[in-house]
Amino acid sequence: MVDFTLTFPPGFLWGAATAAHQVEGGSPPNNWTAWEQTLGHIYREHVAGQACDWWGGRYIEDFDRAVAMHHNAHRFSVEWSRIEPERGQFDLPAIAHYADVLRALRERGMEPVITLHHFTNPLWVEEMGGWLNEETVRRFARFVQVVMEELDQPVTMWCTINEPLVYATNGYLVGRFPPGDKNLRNTFLVIENLLRGHAAAYHTIKDIQPDAQVGLAKAQINFTPMRPSWLHQPARNLLRQTINRAFIDAIITGELRLPMHKVELPEARDTLDWIGLNYYYRLQAGFNPLKPQQVFIDRRRPREGILGPESVGEIWPEGIFDEIKWLCQRTDKPLYVTENGVPDGDLPDDTLRQVHLIRSLRRVWDSVNYNFPVKGYFYWTLVDNFEWAEGYDPAFRFGLYGCDLETQVRTKKRSADLYGAICAANALTSDMVHEFAPDAFDGLFPGVDVQTDVTLPPRP
Ligand code: FCB
Repeated sequence: MVDFTLTFPPGFLWGAATAAHQVEGGSPPNNWTAWEQTLGHIYREHVAGQACDWWGGRYIEDFDRAVAMHHNAHRFSVEWSRIEPERGQFDLPAIAHYADVLRALRERGMEPVITLHHFTNPLWVEEMGGWLNEETVRRFARFVQVVMEELDQPVTMWCTINEPLVYATNGYLVGRFPPGDKNLRNTFLVIENLLRGHAAAYHTIKDIQPDAQVGLAKAQINFTPMRPSWLHQPARNLLRQTINRAFIDAIITGELRLPMHKVELPEARDTLDWIGLNYYYRLQAGFNPLKPQQVFIDRRRPREGILGPESVGEIWPEGIFDEIKWLCQRTDKPLYVTENGVPDGDLPDDTLRQVHLIRSLRRVWDSVNYNFPVKGYFYWTLVDNFEWAEGYDPAFRFGLYGCDLETQVRTKKRSADLYGAICAANALTSDMVHEFAPDAFDGLFPGVDVQTDVTLPPRP
């Protein structure tokens, strides 16, 4: 049996991440509220509805829960469609609401990280073509400027755009997100304009507040080649380059290089003070020798990990290390894990979530000990919420707390106690693993057999 204390660096940020549309409720005038109205778009025709009622003020009680778990930070997003419901018309009371949210965090000693775009667009933006229209870049920068000028609360950490590739591929290639397009050319155009949007937001923020720390949250998939790997390696490399790397490369070089889509974007060069990693799963990539022009993904046969729900790949927490490593080496910037979590609907004893948290944080700790500048970890998510196309599917719940949608009553899950203990200690210890995941202990931390009982041969 081994004893250990995996201590994180002093000042490490511990928190949870949330997004406006998923928790606020109250049907803001955005592309998702509209998309939810159509049959077949969302799991069992769910709509976000009241969600976790944060717009109605329940963020206060949830922040109390976060601080009781010893969080010292929180990542959340501001909803563009509330702040600018009509083109050029800014709603100052909506901005004041977010100033209240910031005050509530500060009063509880939690450092805010604000995301400016998390999947939603105001309807008027969507109607003018969304991110296919380059004009959206300028409208977004204007929105960011107004937020910066009107939010009378100090904020250091800004996250421009959440998961640009997830937004673009789901909305324009796979059709799972609004506007439900399936067009590769449009997907690439949207990626390009999101990069412009990120750059424009970066420069806008820095012009107003030079000491702001501006980054973005990039979802990285741990791509691995199908077997035999020598055959499928090129397919893996192509997907990894396109989905994980091209956007980041462009921020470093000022040139976006996607397959058959190359564009110079000098304004995007060096627009990163920190990088955010959202990590969830691994996918095996390969190609069919009979159709060599197509790459494909095998979701249904996990390697060593756990088979996740359909829209997720293989749950493989250890993969977080490789993603931290590449992002840190490529960007040479501090890294925050801006999202990490696992769907586990069990209430209150979410065993998978507890084991997943332990396995993930062990690899985050490893990366710290390789001297990668990892500065914080934001669990996805605080309270079960509206999961986009999965709606409120019980198999797709990510919260440390459950939430009864009818009554708004929260239920603490066991993972909340585990995460709370980790945040309080700024460490993961063997005692915690014994307490929360006793069955997994020996598999995860096998003790080395040490011979302690030595019988010396008799002296001659
Ligand atoms: C990420 C999203 C986040 C949430 C998690 C489960 O891709 O950024 O809003 O839906 O997945």
